[in-house]
Parts: sequence; structure tokens; C-alpha cells
Amino acid sequence: MERESQAGSALSAQSPTRAVAWKTGSTLAIEEVQVEPPKAQEVRIKVISTGICGTDDHALKGLLSANFPLIPGHEGAGIVESIGKGVSSMKPGDKVLILIIPQCRECSACLHPEGNFCEKQDVLPSSGLMLDGTSRFTCKGKKIYHSFRASTFTEYTVVPEIAVAKIDAAAPMDKVSIISCEVPTGYGAAVNSAKVTRGSTCVVFGLGGIGSAIVMGCKASGASRIIGIDINEEKFPRNLKKPVQEVVMEMTGAGADFAFEAIGLTDTMIAAWDSCHRSYGVCLIVGLAPSSSKLSLKASEIVSGRTLKGVCLGDYKTRDCTPQLVIDYLQNKINIDPLITHQLPFDQLHKAFELYHAGKTKRFTYIPLFGKVPHQPIFSKRRKMHTI
Ligand SMILES: NC(=O)c1ccc[n+]([C@@H]2O[C@H](COP(=O)([O-])OP(=O)(O)OC[C@H]3O[C@@H](n4cnc5c(N)ncnc54)[C@H](O)[C@@H]3O)[C@@H](O)[C@H]2O)c1
Ligand SMILES: [Zn+2]
Ligand SMILES: [Zn+2]
Repeated sequence: MERESQAGSALSAQSPTRAVAWKTGSTLAIEEVQVEPPKAQEVRIKVISTGICGTDDHALKGLLSANFPLIPGHEGAGIVESIGKGVSSMKPGDKVLILIIPQCRECSACLHPEGNFCEKQDVLPSSGLMLDGTSRFTCKGKKIYHSFRASTFTEYTVVPEIAVAKIDAAAPMDKVSIISCEVPTGYGAAVNSAKVTRGSTCVVFGLGGIGSAIVMGCKASGASRIIGIDINEEKFPRNLKKPVQEVVMEMTGAGADFAFEAIGLTDTMIAAWDSCHRSYGVCLIVGLAPSSSKLSLKASEIVSGRTLKGVCLGDYKTRDCTPQLVIDYLQNKINIDPLITHQLPFDQLHKAFELYHAGKTKRFTYIPLFGKVPHQPIFSKRRKMHTI
């Protein structure tokens, strides 16, 4: 028998708790928003923690094809508040991760053993609407768009069931939100997509949240040398006099075994490609370039044997694999704590963005309306790596 919706009427916040971007590049406004009950095959979730990902920043700057006004955010952990008709994989009270890339288990990508870029995704391009073409958010009588069918900068959100992963009941909800995007994307790019080999040399372009998680994955895979590249002068106060790929070539002799681009710029994608060994180097593009940009490579250089590979969410089938990453964390097989350097309550969202833009964070975890908020950074550690 189909499960009946356990959703009540639209939620109206007692206190204003949703961040709305009214237009591209505008400051986020914290507004009171109506959140409709979930329709069939949808889930309404109380968001417990969420982080700022570079993809949110790209969307807010208008670099991706997003519709405004929208509620941003896609990296989140929460608790199921109510379910729509036909939802069978979770129930109210379950702990879940919200997934930017769904896993419908029916499309060509989901059915292929190597595929994970589900055809029901809403990133490339982004309609900002649920699968039935409508929105669940209104504010001041106006329709508000969803962000990648996730929208986590809010106390409550509505997400398709196929974009939700039920996780272990013991998961610490103030931390595991980064296992919804940053950890599978970065750690997974190294251990699962590239399958970084023991003793190899890796170069990571961009040491924000994703790049840091890539470094973590390279270390876990036994890379003997990791070269990190970033323009943040606080992290790397060195002024290069020549193109960075030339410096990498000098440092490595003939190029890196693995190069990762985790910025989202075509210039650094080319630099990452040029930093790989010509014959056997593997270049992984993790960064999301502006939707209007094109990548231009020297065509004759392709035959030498290098591999260029795009990676989304570490090639993981998201609903199948992210719950296991949570278990790995609970069993101390991976340590995600160093990736969280700040935790702030939701009402300090603007401060969080200020710190993010100043390059002072790896990942933030906001804790919307969560009773107790730790005031100290959980952990902050310097990694041993070559930086240029
Ligand atoms: N493929 C995926 O599945 C996936 C998932 C999440 C994020 N992303 C993308 O990954 C990229 C990184 O995301 P993030 O959350 O780590 O962002 P971030 O803003 O935390 O980190 C970006 C880093 O790049 C550095 N940087 C910027 N311009 C640079 C340059 N010209 N040269 C060197 N360093 C530079 C910044 O100083 C920062 O440290 C974004 O493009 C994001 O959209 C992709
Ligand atoms: Zn993300
Ligand atoms: Zn699918």
C-alpha cells in the first residue's frame, strides 16, 4: 500500500530562517519563506547543518545557469520531517544527507556501472524547479527557485527522494553535511576516480574545501609527493615568476602522475593538463567552469597518452555510496574533522560568506537553529605538502 503523505500544511517559520538571493550578486537576505509540503516522491527535511561550497559561490555570482530569486546551498545534513506519497526509502525522524546529484537508479547513467551523473540532476543546466516543474518555496507572494533541487540555506527544504541518502543514526549532524558534497567530491576524486597510486606525485590546483579533501584522498592512497597550488597569499606567500605548469615540470622532472583542478577556471584546467606527465599523466577536472566558457587545448598534444577526465562527486553513485562514507567516518577509517575549520549559527551567514571570500575557511558548517553551537573551530591542522 502506498504510504500516505505525513506532511501537514505549508510551514511558516516562527522566526525568519531562510536565506534568499533575490538576484545575481545580491547580498543574501534572511527572509520568512513558505515551504510547501512534499509532493509524491518528495521529502521535506529539517536542515541541521550545511556548508558553503564553491559551486554555491559560482551560482550566486551568476556564473552558472541558475534562476533567481533562489534559496542557495546544496551541501547539507538533516532530519526527515515529512514524506510525500510513494516515498519508501525513509521515514520522518531519519537522519539524511541532501545530494546535489541524485541517483534515480533508472536512467542510463545510473544503470551503467561507471556512471553517476544521473539524468534527473538539476545542475547542468539548472531549472531551479522540482521534477514536476514547480517550486515548493514562496516569499512575499513570489515564487522562489530551488538551488540544484537541494536548497540547504534554510531551516526546511523539500528535495526529491532520489536526492536523499538515509545515513546511520549515530552520525554527528553538525559535521556530516560535508559528506554530502565536499568529501565524496574531493576524497573520492583521488581514491575512487583517479585511483591515486602508492608512491605517486600529485598536484592539486586550488586548496579550498574540495582541494583539501583531494589532498586527504591523495595521502590516504599513499602518494609520496603532493604539490598544492593556490593564489591565496595567506596560505602561499610566494610570487611565481613563470607559469605554474613550468614550475611543476621543474619540480617533478617530467610531470605529475595525477593533476587535479579544483578551482573552476579554464586557465588552471589547462595548467593542470600541462602539469601532467605527457605519456601517463591523468588530469582530473573537478572544478566547475562558468557555463559560457570553453576549454582550448593543443590538439596535437592529446596523442601522447595523457588522460583528461571530468569528475562529479568522486564518481560515486551518490545514494549508494555516501552512507558508507558516513560509516567509514564513524569507524575512524576516514577523518573529516580537519576539513571543518569553522562552525557558525545560521544567523551569522553573512559573516561566514565574508570569511569564505577572505579565504579563511576550508569548510563552514552552519547550524540552522541548532541549540548548542561550538564556538571554537573543531580542528585546524597544517598538512605537510610542497607548496609553490
Ligand atoms: N565536480 C564536482 O562534483 C564538484 C563538487 C563540488 C564543487 N565543485 C567545484 O570545485 C571547485 C572548488 O570548490 P571549493 O568548494 O573548494 O571552492 P573554494 O572557494 O573553497 O576553493 C577554491 C580555491 O581556489 C583558489 N583559487 C582561486 N583562483 C585561483 C587561481 N587562479 N589559481 C590558484 N588558486 C585559485 C582559492 O584561493 C581557493 O582556495 C569549484 O569550481 C566548485 O564549483 C565541483
Ligand atoms: Zn558542492
Ligand atoms: Zn539516474
